[in-house]
Amino acid sequence: MKFFLDTANINEIKKYAELGLIDGVTTNPTLVAKEKREFKELIKEICSIVDGPVSAEVISTDAEGMIKEAEELSKIADNIVVKIPMTRDGLKAVKVLSEEGIDTNVTLVFSPLQALLAAKAGATYVSPFIGRLDDIGHVGMGLVEDVVLIFNNYGIETEVIVSSIRHPWHVLEAAKIGADIATIPPSVMEKLFNHPLTDIGLERFLKDWEEYKRVIKGD
Ligand code: E4P
Repeated sequence: MKFFLDTANINEIKKYAELGLIDGVTTNPTLVAKEKREFKELIKEICSIVDGPVSAEVISTDAEGMIKEAEELSKIADNIVVKIPMTRDGLKAVKVLSEEGIDTNVTLVFSPLQALLAAKAGATYVSPFIGRLDDIGHVGMGLVEDVVLIFNNYGIETEVIVSSIRHPWHVLEAAKIGADIATIPPSVMEKLFNHPLTDIGLERFLKDWEEYKRVIKGD
């Protein structure tokens, strides 16, 4: 399973890129706004750090505007993926962009049929938002199960980016289902490293090693 980092923060991206843990990055207007930097410059810097796809989202809501923005964004770097909202105009833009060879990530996907439509329009990636579904009392992971099943049924090559991840369980379940990618916020990524038994175990090993050294030295 590929891990993308769901952030526009350069320090966080560098931190996990150095560990070789991230295969790509996803941003959105909310994440970019937090960084208080010029959009294209920020995206360019992210693209230079990450050896993998970097999603940057359009702001236009009409197909023509989205296509124009996407063509501009795609000039920033070879690893740009243009994020397009799951709307009728969005899919119109995706069709044109896929014919132009520009990679797209259809975002704000909340139903399996939206994902199927996006794939049929030529999306490179689809992003089902699971946390936001959980937030309104739905089972977000059910959406991922359905999308993966449908794409497997028909050999659809569009990759599934499990998005709106809130906790490690979301990552675990996405991996068990066989989703291609999880885009993980840094706060959740950090939690993947930890287990209390690891800490307790390490503490005991080090304590026993100190005791061993004392005995060997005959103190
Ligand atoms: C995905 O590409 C989005 O940037 C992100 O996962 C949205 O997550 P949120 O629901 O936590 O804002």
